[in-house]
Parts: sequence; C-alpha cells; structure tokens
Amino acid sequence: MCLANAHEGSHHSAPDALMRDAATVSNNEEVAIRHISLDWTVDFDRQCIYGSALLKCEALKDTDKVVLDGRELAIHGITIGDTKVDYDVENVAVFGQRISLKLGDFPQGSTKDVLIKYSTGEGPKASALQFIEKELTADKVKPYLYSQCQAIHARSIVPCMDTPANKQTYDAKVKVPEGMVCLLSALGTGNEKTEDGGTIYSFNQPMPIASYLFAIVAGALERREISPRCDVWAEPSVVDKARYEFEDTEKMLATAEELMGKYVWSRYDLVVLPPSFPFGGMENPCLTFVTPTLIAGDRSLTSVVAHEIAHSWTGNLVTNGNWEHFWLNEGFTVFCERKIMGRLYGESLRQFENITGWEDRMLPTINETFGPVHNYTRLVPDLTGVDPDDAFSTIPYEKGSAFLLYIEQQLNIGERYEQFFREYLAHFAQKSIATDDWKNFLYEKMQDKKEILDNIDWIGWLYNPGVPPNKPTFEEELVQECRDLANLWGNASDEEIANIDVEQFNKMTSVQQVKVLDSIEALSPLSHQRVEKLQEKYRLNETCNCEIRFSWLLIALKAKWTPVIPQALAFVAEIGRVKYVKPIYTKLFAWEESREKAIETFKKNIPFMHPITVIVINSLMAKK
Ligand code: BES
Ligand code: ZN
Repeated sequence: MCLANAHEGSHHSAPDALMRDAATVSNNEEVAIRHISLDWTVDFDRQCIYGSALLKCEALKDTDKVVLDGRELAIHGITIGDTKVDYDVENVAVFGQRISLKLGDFPQGSTKDVLIKYSTGEGPKASALQFIEKELTADKVKPYLYSQCQAIHARSIVPCMDTPANKQTYDAKVKVPEGMVCLLSALGTGNEKTEDGGTIYSFNQPMPIASYLFAIVAGALERREISPRCDVWAEPSVVDKARYEFEDTEKMLATAEELMGKYVWSRYDLVVLPPSFPFGGMENPCLTFVTPTLIAGDRSLTSVVAHEIAHSWTGNLVTNGNWEHFWLNEGFTVFCERKIMGRLYGESLRQFENITGWEDRMLPTINETFGPVHNYTRLVPDLTGVDPDDAFSTIPYEKGSAFLLYIEQQLNIGERYEQFFREYLAHFAQKSIATDDWKNFLYEKMQDKKEILDNIDWIGWLYNPGVPPNKPTFEEELVQECRDLANLWGNASDEEIANIDVEQFNKMTSVQQVKVLDSIEALSPLSHQRVEKLQEKYRLNETCNCEIRFSWLLIALKAKWTPVIPQALAFVAEIGRVKYVKPIYTKLFAWEESREKAIETFKKNIPFMHPITVIVINSLMAKK
C-alpha cells in the first residue's frame, strides 16, 4: 500500500508518525511514566488538594532529566528514596509550568521512583477543580469538590506528563472531612476513619490511562445500584431520580459489549454532578461524570450515557495520541453511541441523530461559528500553540462520525464494518494513535476493497476545512415532519397559526421537538408576535427539558425578543454546560440591549462557575 504522498498539500508533514503533542512541555519522547501513587488530602478551607505523587519513570532513551507539566502547583520538595532531586519550575504561556527534574544518569530502560510533595493552586487557580460551598449544593449539608481534567487540566492537580501519548496505572489514598464520600476514576479498595473524624479512601486503577482521565469527586454522596457492575451516585435529594433516569445503563453497556468487545474496566458507575459541571458527560474510567440536566424525568436525554459508555473503548482504550486527532476519540464515540441507541431504541433514532448532527450541529459550526476556511473546521486541525479547549467544537464529533458513516456506506459490507471496528479496538487497545494508524489498519483489513478506499477523498475529509466533500445518505422521513412544522411557523398566516394543531408537537418525542425548534431557528428571525405565539402554544417556558429550553432560547434571541433576556440570563446563571452557555452568552454579548446585563451576570457568577467555563466565557467577551 502506498500512502506516502497521501498528505501532499495538507497543512503538516510526517503524517505517519504520531506528531509531538504541542500541548505538553513534558519530555514524553524520552521518558515514560508507568505508574503514579497519589497521597492526597482535600482541604476545603484553603480550597486545594495537598500531598504527594510518587511517579514511576522509565527512560525510553538515555537521558538525565524528567520534564513534567504543571499549572499553578506549589512544589514543596522532590526526592528519590532519601536523596533530594534538583528541580526547576518555569511558567510557559498557555500551557502552565515546565517542571524540570535533574536526575543525573538515567540510561535507557532503567526506572526511577520520584516522590513529589506539592499542593495545588487554591480556589480557581487549580483549573481542573471546582470547590462548592455547602449552601450552594443541592442538599446544603456538605461542601463539594469535583474535577474536569480533559483536555489539559490534569497538570493543575498532579505534576505529570499531561499528554494522551503517555498512559499510566495509578493508585491513590485520599483524605476527606467527616461525612464526605470520595470517588475517583478508579476502583474503590476500602476506607478507614481517621482520628479527627475524616475518612481516607483507597483506590486502584489497574488499567493504564491517559492523564486527562484522572478525576475526583467529593461530597455528601449516596449510592443506588443499577446492576451488579453499575451504581449511580448523587446527593441524597437527587439520587433516586437519577436511579430512575439511568435505569437502562446496564442494557446500554451490554449492547456496547456486543458491538465493541468485552468491557475491561470492571465497574461502570455514574456520578451526577452539580449544574455547574461544564459538560454533558465525561468518560472518567470506572466513573462517568454527568450533568444533572440529563435528569428530564422521562429518560429522554440518556444518549449521553451511551456516548460515555462507548468511550470505554474509543478514547479510554484506543486513545488520540495528541489533541489534533481528537476526532478518533469523539467521532468514533458518536458513531458507536448511535449504533448503541439504534440497536436499543430503533434504527430510525440513529438516522434521526445522524441528520440533526449534520444539519443542526456540524453545518452551523462550519458556516456560522467559524466560517468555512477556519483551521478548526478541519477534522485534523493544526493545534500548534493552541489550548485544545479553544478549538473544541462539534466538528470532531459530527464531521468525524459522518466520515465513518460515509465510509460504511461506500464499503457497503454489512456486518463486516462493525467487525472491523472490533478488530481496530482490539488491535490498538491501550495505545495512543494518530489518524493514519487507523487509516493504514483499514487498508490492511480491507485489501479486497482497495479500489473503493482509493476513491475516498481522504484529504478533503481529513485535512481540508469546511463542509465535507461528500454527504452520507440519510433516511429523512422522521425529520421531514419536523421540518414541515418548522416551515409552517416560518410561513403560515396568523390565522393558520391561531388554529395550529398543538397536539402534533406535544405527541412528538423530545428529540423531534428539538428538531422542530432548531429548524425554526435556522429560518430567518421570527416576528416578535410569532415568537410569543410559539412560546404560548407549546408552553416553552414551562419545559424541564434543557435541550428544548436551549433551542427555544436561541429562537427568541435570534428574533431579538426582549422578554427572553431575563430567561436567558437565569438559564446561564444556573447551568454551566458549555454547550449551552457559550452560544447563549455569545448572543447576549452581541446584542446591544442585553450586553451590559450579560457582562454583569457573568461577573457576578464567576465565583460559582467551574474555572473552565470562566475561561471560555472570558475569551468570548474579549472577542466581543
Ligand atoms: N470527553 C467529552 C467531554 C470533553 C471533551 C471535555 C473535550 C473536555 C474536552 C465527553 O465525552 C463528551 O463528548 N460530552 C458531550 C456529550 C455528547 C456529545 C453526547 C457533552 O458534554 O455534551
Ligand atoms: Zn465524548
């Protein structure tokens, strides 16, 4: 197979080797970290974590140093056995601290156990952490702490090689105050009480993981069992609702296993976080984190759980080697998430999600958010000097899964495509890879289909910005009804609207309702009178479903309907999900009438937001 010139004209060279991760300052090409032992105390008064990390380092080449990533860490001392290690800490723009350890002779193949005593930055300085005072939790009895390390925030809680090119196993002992439960992205191995009434929890993660998968949550948490290997954790007033909402978790996991192979992480637990959690879900190993906004009461938003389950293979086992290949995590995961949902709830749902992903998420990101020549609209973007959080968008998700769907349709080999996925996952399990590793493996396994593969526009799909060169085939029936209803709202006379059949909308599933609203939003702005009618007819200000509320707010904001301002501000003050907060703040900042109030609301809320969300909104404000 000759792929040597396949990337001619693309934006960067040497595509066959995994390029150096531009988002780490560590010397991960010289040294590997194989294991980390953490000894932590969570200090709710100072709002930090302090203790130590013991790093088992292995020299991959002859060297004399280990260079680690950090961010706002206070290093108290570094030792190997009884010997002090000389070190140097330097601040680096965007990427945090370069912590250089002078180790003397460190020949290839040898190992050294390095003990680092340190504390994290306090409060929001530890960009991965949010400490929440007890008054602001659901039950108001204990304070709360949670982390979000992806993409490059692990370095703010542990000195490490914060690149997905390095994987390590870990164990931990974590001390928390009286009455609090602590959970990590690992298996719990017991706990003991301390003299002051606190508890020390012990953990082990026997599978090697990338640093972005370190995770901690501590609070007044309770547990409910879903199945022998799945529990859900949440504050007491939330936990039973959560248990109901996530009832199908075991079924989803079993379906994922049929599709992707044996589940190798032992447990799959969920923890429901406070509303400030910046994401819908985060695939922390053994313990997926989810936003409480998934609890709609009708199990209608649980595809996020299918998504995080799929990451147990695509992402956590087979991992993007650097953030330019992020679509190998997210595009593959979306593709598998929809296969799981299709098998459990019907193929038409899968089709539906594929279409809305293409037309309501991918296309607007390309054409409106970034513009069609923007670097970030490439499936494999150039991230030199860029914080990966800054490039985050629907592109790796939707362009990525559409590409996999397109290839499936071109090959047209039925079951064998899913078989290929299983082989790919088994082959690259526990590795960190680049796009070409997948592509080469595809060619190898599909030698009899070489002609079809050669006809794929690889450069167009992978490296060119803008709308992909081909559109996969979608079954549009279910979607058409939604588009028709949307067009009615755009075009009908006042009289027709007055007589509109409200039941047609009410009978739809919530994903269909969202589609109706998103299709309305894509039309030219509605008149104020029509916006009012829309809200009134469909009782949109009463919905508890966040997806519906969000789509409604975007329609009203686009129409510049003044009464939406307080509704939108209340929404972003309560919910921290970046997917909602970023587009809403963007609109509020851009509109004369809401700009001042939006800035005021944001500034007032900073102390109650996760640091990641603050960074995102701050950069929006700067852009105006
Ligand atoms: N791993 C991501 C979240 C993430 C990505 C955090 C990059 C930080 C940096 C997670 O699996 C995810 O994709 N969550 C989505 C859910 C979804 C697409 C169903 C979300 O939060 O909306
Ligand atoms: Zn994901």
